Amino acid sequence: MAVGDSFLWFTHQPVSTTWLKRELAVKRPDLRFAYARPGLTTFKVEPARLEYAVESSFARAHGHSLGRAATVDDVLAHAAAVPAGARLHVWERDPDRPADERDAAIAGTRAAALDAAIRAAAPARFAAEVTAQANDAVLDVIVAPAEEHDDGIFVGHHRHDASRGPLPGGVPHVTIPDAAPSRAWAKIEEAIRWSGLVPRAGESAVEIGSAPGGASFALLERGLTVHGVDPGAMDPRVLAYRGASGNRFVHHALPAAEVARKDLPKAYAWLASDVNLAPMVALKYVERFVALAHGGLRGAFITLKLNDDGVFEALPRLAARIGKLGARAVRYTQLPSHRSEIVAILEW
Ligand SMILES: C[S@@+](CC[C@H](N)C(=O)[O-])C[C@H]1O[C@@H](n2cnc3c(N)ncnc32)[C@H](O)[C@@H]1O
Repeated sequence: MAVGDSFLWFTHQPVSTTWLKRELAVKRPDLRFAYARPGLTTFKVEPARLEYAVESSFARAHGHSLGRAATVDDVLAHAAAVPAGARLHVWERDPDRPADERDAAIAGTRAAALDAAIRAAAPARFAAEVTAQANDAVLDVIVAPAEEHDDGIFVGHHRHDASRGPLPGGVPHVTIPDAAPSRAWAKIEEAIRWSGLVPRAGESAVEIGSAPGGASFALLERGLTVHGVDPGAMDPRVLAYRGASGNRFVHHALPAAEVARKDLPKAYAWLASDVNLAPMVALKYVERFVALAHGGLRGAFITLKLNDDGVFEALPRLAARIGKLGARAVRYTQLPSHRSEIVAILEW
């Protein structure tokens, strides 16, 4: 297959390939499926429609294809498509298993070796800084997960914007520290890094579905005071947390529908929701807590559990409800540490 500049690529969890294709078939019926590897799907597009916006709730990164490569020299030949000083993003496709079950000693080693080889072969050709800023040109170099068979190099490029993360592959999996009470620590940290929407020390957050407390712990460590709403038990480390700025955790050990306005902080800038309920139900609580914030919100991270095809088919209706929450921007993605879920990230 000839892979030219009229192909688009998306990287995503291998398990979500069918949903990514079905979603794009509705949003962009002009795309023609072209070529795939687990975790990487490409589509042919009419050159005249190459620059039209295209987003999938399941992709963390996307861009234009340049073609395949076997050697570093091939990669550098493709790099003619990006200006000198462009960002270089080299990463491994998602393996067909949860990110936090990868062997941390092996994950990422193939990409790191190739990144070093490209930079050594063309010193100063790419920016040393990896994090892309708005409108930066990025060369994307994608390989198989290090623990799997090497199936060659795929090269693409994109201009950074808010529809994708600023790091290689959008955002890499963030290793969960021993002190974190649950893997939800990685879900919120990856969402923050993918979106660039960064809570500040001194702000307050409400989390619906906070037990045992991985996400709350991440926000506490960032200096926020966190009000967690969950009838379930919180980890003692979260309950006892006292931050340098006096920030702490307040537990509302009740179902989300039963928390009274008077028990919440007067203003909160952040809302997180991670309840293990059907998204249609979870959204009722999100709507309530957005209203209770009285316009003070800066952002929200809403996990949507996608347990089956029925929920997938309901996504447009869910998106319509999320669109009415008053945020000025809403983005969707599936993060490395997600399992049968995606996140809606809202910015006011
Ligand atoms: C995936 S866990 C949350 C993990 C958590 N965010 C963390 O960081 O560790 C889902 C939680 O939703 C809570 N939940 C379910 N229904 C709820 C409701 N109506 N109100 C509040 N919490 C609820 C459950 O008790 C459970 O602790």
